Amino acid sequence: MMDTQILDPSDRNLRLIAAHLHNGNVAGMPTETVYGLAANAFNVNAVIRIFETKERPKFDPLIVHISQPVDNKINIAYLEFLNLINPEKTDARTRKKTDTLIHTFWPGPLTIILPKNPAVPDILTSGLTTVAIRMPKHPVAQKLLKCFGGPLAAPSANRFGRTSPTTAQDVLSELGGRIEFILDGGKCDVGLESTIIHLGDDGNTYLLRPGVITKEEIEAVINEKLLYSDLSIAPGMLKSHYAPSKPFYMLPAIVDQLNDKQINNVLNKIHKKNIKLGLLAYSGDANSIAKKFKKITTLETNIAVLSETGDPKEAARNLFAFIRSLDQSDADILFTEPCPVSEGLGYAIQNRLRKAAND
Ligand code: TXA
Ligand code: MG
Repeated sequence: MMDTQILDPSDRNLRLIAAHLHNGNVAGMPTETVYGLAANAFNVNAVIRIFETKERPKFDPLIVHISQPVDNKINIAYLEFLNLINPEKTDARTRKKTDTLIHTFWPGPLTIILPKNPAVPDILTSGLTTVAIRMPKHPVAQKLLKCFGGPLAAPSANRFGRTSPTTAQDVLSELGGRIEFILDGGKCDVGLESTIIHLGDDGNTYLLRPGVITKEEIEAVINEKLLYSDLSIAPGMLKSHYAPSKPFYMLPAIVDQLNDKQINNVLNKIHKKNIKLGLLAYSGDANSIAKKFKKITTLETNIAVLSETGDPKEAARNLFAFIRSLDQSDADILFTEPCPVSEGLGYAIQNRLRKAAND
């Protein structure tokens, strides 16, 4: 066990952490989506440290984070210059599509998967011939990347399978004692991990993970329909993910719309008396939700509402933080409403809830 320090992003601390990373160590870093656990992307041993620190299986590849170029010319040539992608494996159409996408969405929460350059360690990509790349928008992430002077591999800074951290304090509760430094960039603005797309060598574009940049927005920019990828393309997309440590069940409908049969099914999950429940609600006010939840159970229930007004951006920002706080509360069993919004960002929220919930 080592001491873990949360450091504010002063120039001195940025230099300290950059040097720490150059020495092959890992550190917690803020991004606009969730906090990452960073290491030098081109240092095999440093990348291995990420897997060990997170207890992440080696078959789950990492995302490489890059700095915004000073001339702000964000194009595929920059990715080649950084030795991340393989120009010989990208045809003219893919190059054009990549340029359009990264020009539009970078810096920002979009991760793009492209043919990897041999210089990228195989361990980083779990032996795949492709590499996932993103240019984060968070100013502190950008400062660290510039100060470090090269690409940083960074998965979300949680123990494998657990809820992604959206504050420096969350990183501390996930990885405290295992890392020396966490760079504090405040609460993450987006709250959900980046949207991931794969530019396939069949010319199609696949959506691997939904996020705040929506399928519809991407389709409009590339003038092409996104396909849903099958699991074999995304080895890390395990069904169970983002999970709190307590039992966490998804209600079959929002509390307002549950029928008697569904309520009975829920009751069957609560066999014990004298326990406390936790409920993650999507919208509305906690008092009236509590009243309605009483038709299910008289057990005491802690309620967290993602967004009183039902604003998907606010709900996304609060999602992991509220799952975490219910998990840390005195509730014994947790429930969540399904996300009632199915398009756009609602789709990404429901994707995370489904993976976090037990069957
Ligand atoms: O917003 C984010 O993307 C955050 C912040 C820290 O940048 N990072 C993040 O990393 O969510 P992580 O490791 O938790 O999720 C990365 C996902 C994994 O599920 C992995 O399987 C997938 O990206 N991935 C990475 N490289 C891939 C590749 N070459 N092909 C398919 N999937 C890949
Ligand atoms: Mg993760």
